[in-house]
Amino acid sequence: MKKQYKRILITAALPYANGKIHLGHLAGAYLPADIYARYQRAKKREVVFICGSDEHGVPITITAENEKTTPQKVVDRYHELNKRTFEKFGMSFDNYSRTSLPLHHQTAQEFFLKMYNAGILIEKKEKQLYDEKVKMFLPDRYVEGTCPKCGAEDARGDQCEKCGTYLSPNELINPRSKITGETPIVKETSHWYFPLGKYQKRLQDYIKEKNEEDGWRENVLKYCQTWFNEGLQDRAVTRDLQWGVPVPIKGYENKVLYVWFEAVLGYISSTKEWSIKQNHQKWRDFWLSEDTKYVAFIGKDNVVFHCIVFPAMLMAWNDNSEDKYVLPTNVPANEFLNLEGQKFSKSRGWGLYVDEFLEKYPADSLRYALTLNLPEMRDSDFYWSDFQARHNNELANTLGNFVNRTLTFVYKNYTGKIPTPGTFSDLDQNFINDLNLAPDKIGNLIDNYRFREAAVEMMNLARSANKYFNDAEPWKTLKESPEKCNTTIYLCLNAVKALAILFEPVLPFTTKKIKTMLNMTDEYYWNNASELNLKPGEPIGKIEILFNKIEIINMESETSQEKSDSSKPAQEANKKPTITIEDFKKLDLKVAKVIECEKVTKSEKLLKLKVKVGDEIRQLVAGIAQHYQPQDLLGKNIIVVANLQKATIMGVESHGMMLAASDQNGNLVYITTSTDIEDGSIVK
Ligand code: 2FM
Ligand code: ZN
Repeated sequence: MKKQYKRILITAALPYANGKIHLGHLAGAYLPADIYARYQRAKKREVVFICGSDEHGVPITITAENEKTTPQKVVDRYHELNKRTFEKFGMSFDNYSRTSLPLHHQTAQEFFLKMYNAGILIEKKEKQLYDEKVKMFLPDRYVEGTCPKCGAEDARGDQCEKCGTYLSPNELINPRSKITGETPIVKETSHWYFPLGKYQKRLQDYIKEKNEEDGWRENVLKYCQTWFNEGLQDRAVTRDLQWGVPVPIKGYENKVLYVWFEAVLGYISSTKEWSIKQNHQKWRDFWLSEDTKYVAFIGKDNVVFHCIVFPAMLMAWNDNSEDKYVLPTNVPANEFLNLEGQKFSKSRGWGLYVDEFLEKYPADSLRYALTLNLPEMRDSDFYWSDFQARHNNELANTLGNFVNRTLTFVYKNYTGKIPTPGTFSDLDQNFINDLNLAPDKIGNLIDNYRFREAAVEMMNLARSANKYFNDAEPWKTLKESPEKCNTTIYLCLNAVKALAILFEPVLPFTTKKIKTMLNMTDEYYWNNASELNLKPGEPIGKIEILFNKIEIINMESETSQEKSDSSKPAQEANKKPTITIEDFKKLDLKVAKVIECEKVTKSEKLLKLKVKVGDEIRQLVAGIAQHYQPQDLLGKNIIVVANLQKATIMGVESHGMMLAASDQNGNLVYITTSTDIEDGSIVK
């Protein structure tokens, strides 16, 4: 049974402030969290949505060393940059804090002291690698050496990237300090440990109970089970480092709290900061109450910290305090997003940064394309071609078109005022039924963290609205039967209003424009989204075009052809749905004669062709330069898709597509006619 909660606390993993946010981050934690938060607000539930920068830890000090600057400067730069990027992407955080703030330091130290004073923590002496030259103990990632498992020479002290094995620095063969390149010595140091193993049974019960209540993702349960099967071990909560939250006890002046111990507490300190800014104490209502539903959105690499370490820390606090913190009700972790079939990789320069993306393309289009490709169950991919198609075919041609044709009709034929409906026909009633089902259908999917399916249902409603407009033919009934026309347009306007509400979690910028176009107020919200509650006679606002077509295929899209299918057997990858003869007839295939051909400058793969198609001369760009010299094609007959939308490829306009056959090894041969035939001839 789902429990009824008074309020919802939503957190999204605090990103490290040592790099820019890329598309993988958005698909992992941030976009699903934002959709969830926006939807809950639209349901008029009490929500707080919290995030901030994770500003401590070794990744940050390493970035500072690489960039020959200080950790403070690194985090200042990336905190501001990422905060701005999130705003441009439409993230609706109620607070975006930073873990370098004194408020966070105090909160984290308070947690440490609570456990320390309650005798929960255990001090252990241990041997650790030490760089004598800079007089410093070396954290895991500051040590490099040969992997004992696979022999890779650049394994890190915490993990070998090549074979994936988790390591400790002492296991490395021929260890070297990353700071000086020297061989470190082994020296004794002391650290405080949290006895995670003692909490194992309670953690297992906790996850079982919350899973029964709120349906946890299979992948999350599996990760947790793997940890439980191995048996939870004591975990050090202090580190020999300078940058971080100082350990607040004597003898530990040169040490800081382990970044993961304090970063998760950043959710609490960020909520406190929100309360301070708003001059209230609501952070207590959210965190210190059993009536709060707490949902923590993360990527899969953070599961152990959010499902095991953090809840155990909260249990330890709760056992020793009057104030009892709420534990996550659910931790919907996503898998990873790949780009054009390959993993994002900073070192290989393979990635898409959100700030750069948003300089060229609208945030809502990215939000929509990503939502439909969220890695909810397994890793997924971002393809440029998919992005372009979703924007053009779904956002522009379906949603944008429906809104535009409805509002334009009202302007042209009703002087911009909402008409009064008459009686409903079967066609009207069927559409009203579709409309009525949508809010709960979409809402239930979002409540169950199924964002992909929710976005499909949103667009299905826009499709069904377009179909209703077509079937009702208001341009005909306007003269023949005006009352019918009034009804159709009244229903369409209510559908536009419903779409503005139901699409809002995914398309916040677009729906804001629609709301302005309809002069909509806050009285319209999720629960009455499908009601026919627009007031006849009221004027609508000024119309604006919601989506301009994107005519791009750039550098990145060139890679998609080879990479998309390489991981699958050719047969499986090439399997496509059956189409009807009508589908096939949509293709305008023609014979074309190549009259000019040259290489596209700065591209290894592209040829620019001038072709004659009957009376017309066309320019095409084709990715075949590695298979043909320009002169090979001169005078040849090729087959082109003549009605393909124009595109600009590497700055060169391409009007049509040349057909070629490709084998499993990527060899390409162009398609031609068996004997000469006049150019412009139709291929059928
Ligand atoms: O993986 C990361 O980017 C971490 N900075 C996430 C921290 S989440 C929470 F602990 F703050
Ligand atoms: Zn290895």
